Order: sequence, then C-alpha cells, then structure tokens
Amino acid sequence: MVIMVDLTVRFANVEFENPVIVASGEATTNFERMKKCVKAGAGGLVTKTVTTIREARRALRPRWAIVDKKGFPEIFTFYSIGVLSQYEPERFAEEVKRAKKELKVPIIVSIMGKEFDEWGYLAKLMDEAGADMIELNLSCPFMPETVKGTGRIIGQDPKLSAEVVKVVREAASIPIIPKLSPEASDLVEIAKSVERAGASAITAINRFMGIEIDIETGKPIIQSAFAGYGGPYLRGIGLRWVAKIVPEVSIPVSGCAGIMNWSHAVEYFMVGATTVQLFTAIVAKGYGVIGEIVEGIKNFMEQHGYENIEAMRGIALKHIFPLSQLPVSSFTLKIDEDKCNGCGLCVRSCLAEAIKIKTAGKKKVVIDDSKCEQCGLCITLCPSGALSIV
Ligand SMILES: Cc1cc2nc3c(=O)[nH]c(=O)nc-3n(C[C@H](O)[C@H](O)[C@H](O)COP(=O)(O)O)c2cc1C
Ligand code: SF4
Ligand code: SF4
Repeated sequence: MVIMVDLTVRFANVEFENPVIVASGEATTNFERMKKCVKAGAGGLVTKTVTTIREARRALRPRWAIVDKKGFPEIFTFYSIGVLSQYEPERFAEEVKRAKKELKVPIIVSIMGKEFDEWGYLAKLMDEAGADMIELNLSCPFMPETVKGTGRIIGQDPKLSAEVVKVVREAASIPIIPKLSPEASDLVEIAKSVERAGASAITAINRFMGIEIDIETGKPIIQSAFAGYGGPYLRGIGLRWVAKIVPEVSIPVSGCAGIMNWSHAVEYFMVGATTVQLFTAIVAKGYGVIGEIVEGIKNFMEQHGYENIEAMRGIALKHIFPLSQLPVSSFTLKIDEDKCNGCGLCVRSCLAEAIKIKTAGKKKVVIDDSKCEQCGLCITLCPSGALSIV
C-alpha cells in the first residue's frame, strides 16, 4: 500500500515545504540564482555568505577545479579558492528583499563579520531585509588566510563561537544557525556552547582546507594558495558529526556535506538531521539535482512507510555504539562459483593470502578458511557479488 508522505518540516520554528535546502555558495549568490533553486524544488535557501570584510570579496580568476574525477559526477574532489559574496551588505539586502517578496521558501542569510559589532550589524541588516533565519559562517576554510580571527578560527573555539551567537542574538530577532567547521577537534563541545549562547539550530558541516600540486610545474593548481577542499568524500564526516551532535543538544541540526543523491540525504535524516543542505551536487549535476533529491526522498519514504521526516529521523542512532562495546563474532566466507568471473581482485587484496586463483576445474577461486582473518574486505570488493558470509 502506498502511503501519503508529508515532506514538510519545522526547523527552529520555521516551516519548510521540504527539507532539502541549498547550502551557502554560488547557487544562491543573487536573486536570479535563488529563483532557479526554488524552481528546481528547493525547500529553502542559504544565501552566499555576505560580509563586511572587503578583502573577502576579492574574486580570483580562475578559482574552481574538479580534481580526482574518477567516476565524475559521483566521485571527485571539488577544489576552490573562494571568496564570500561580492556584494556590499547593503546591496545584498536588496537581493534578500526581492527573494522574500517573490520566492515562497524560507531565506536563510549567511553572514560573516570580523569584529563582533560587524556580526551584529549584518544580522540586523538582514533581519530588517526580511530574512527568515541567519546562518553564522563560523567555518569558512580560507578566511583566516585573508583576515585573522575569522572563519574556521572562530569555529574552532567554543567561547568565541558563543560570543558571536550572543552578539547576533542581541542584534536580531530571527533564529540563528551557527555553521560548524570540521577542522575543530570537538564539534560537540562547540555545538553545546553555541546552544547555551542562544543558537536556534546548527548546520554541520563546512569544508576542510587542502592543496593539490601540479607535478609538472611544482606549483599548487589554479592559484598559489591553500584551497577549500570538499566533495562527496565529506559525507561520512558530516554524518559522523551530525550523529554525535544530535543526541547532545536539544536544538535541530541541518546536515551538510557530500550529498550527491537522495539516498545520501536519507542517511543524514537517519543520524538525526531535520533538514539537509547541498551545494557541490548542483555544481556537478545542475540545478535539476535538487528536485531529483526531493523526489527520491519522497519515493523512498512511500516505499518504506515513513509518513514524515520525523518518522525516520535518528533511527540509526540506536545502532551506533562505542567500539569497545562491540561483540567479536566470527563468520565463514562463502563463494558463489556461478557469479565469480575470476578477475582476481580479491586475491590481490587479501593480505592474509587466504584466496587463490584455481586454474583447473570450474572453481575460479578457492578460500583457505584456516588463513582467512575474517576482515570482510573481499566481500565488499568483489565486483560480481560472488562472496558472502555464512
Ligand atoms: C565554491 C564553494 C563556495 C562556498 N561558499 C560558501 C559560503 O560562502 N559560505 C558558507 O558558509 N559555505 C560555503 N561553502 C560551503 C558549502 O555551503 C557546504 O558547506 C560545503 O560545500 C559542503 O556541502 P556540499 O558537499 O553539498 O557542497 C562553499 C562551498 C563551495 C564548494
Ligand atoms: S573478486 Fe569476486 S569475481 Fe573477482 S575473483 Fe574474487 S570472487 Fe571472483
Ligand atoms: S575476509 Fe579478509 S582475510 Fe578473509 S579472504 Fe577475505 S580479504 Fe582475505
């Protein structure tokens, strides 16, 4: 029986028609692009970060690259030397006003100041422009290279993060969402600290900083600087932090990083996220991916009997334990001889040398149970699904 699915969510007391939000980045850099996101099905938008820091508006050219593009657009690294919004804050407020007037989704304005009073100024300006929520960019990977004491430097310090929240709390009446950096060593501590300071929700996570070298020239690629380093690989790290933060705070969490398709979004809900955010998927696949993800989530919920996001939110958490509590069980490896094509991948990767290619007879590989250390690697490696556990 197909059930009726309700995709609406309340996130920090703001209602979203669906939980798929476009993350802060170049897809929400002005009204025209925001409109495209909404047309494609976004449930909400986080704008490109608007800033009072003039140096952070300088746009290097070129500044983006796709590297490691094995299996693009699913597996790759998105490498970018970034800037924040190139608009002056007062000019950007006009884009926000227009978005609020014409787009029927919540508009979350991402801000970053340098001094505390700049954070307050930006929050008040955007509140007055009609923003539904404010996201605090406490996590921009390259800002400290541009201006000391900003971006991920704040996001690594629970006290500084809380101070920014308090200043913004004073200046604006709308919900405040600090966006955390994976470069902090303990995001749970930061999350608790910003909650105590008055944050309404949390976004986890932003990207890391990294670098790639062109070995022909011996120089960094694109520009001679460290870059924002993200892509689908970030998903597991984002999931980890959402899973750790959700049980420790009572404010909702927006899961962000590495979402390339609907199933990735569902994973975030299952570790406790109330909404999800994505940006890189739009760069790799176009705006249309937003609607595909919304549709995919809906189909999955229909097929699995989840009437709303809340019904599946956090269901994975009860299955996550400290390593020390996991029981040590054992298994025997089984091979399906009809499926095995003799490719030899498992033989090459088994460090215990428990699998051998057999040349004679129908069997292509044989397993020596006495040598098998039961690591499980070959089961997931086999391209034919020929190996399983008994
Ligand atoms: C080119 C680029 C620009 C970004 N700009 C911002 C920004 O201005 N503010 C911000 O908070 N995050 C920014 N981000 C981070 C994204 O919002 C997001 O947190 C991160 O890319 C992980 O999500 P994703 O894997 O879906 O892209 C940017 C990311 C990229 C790749
Ligand atoms: S990886 Fe799979 S298909 Fe390839 S040899 Fe091993 S069992 Fe056979
Ligand atoms: S489970 Fe591990 S040790 Fe056993 S055969 Fe497979 S790869 Fe080798």
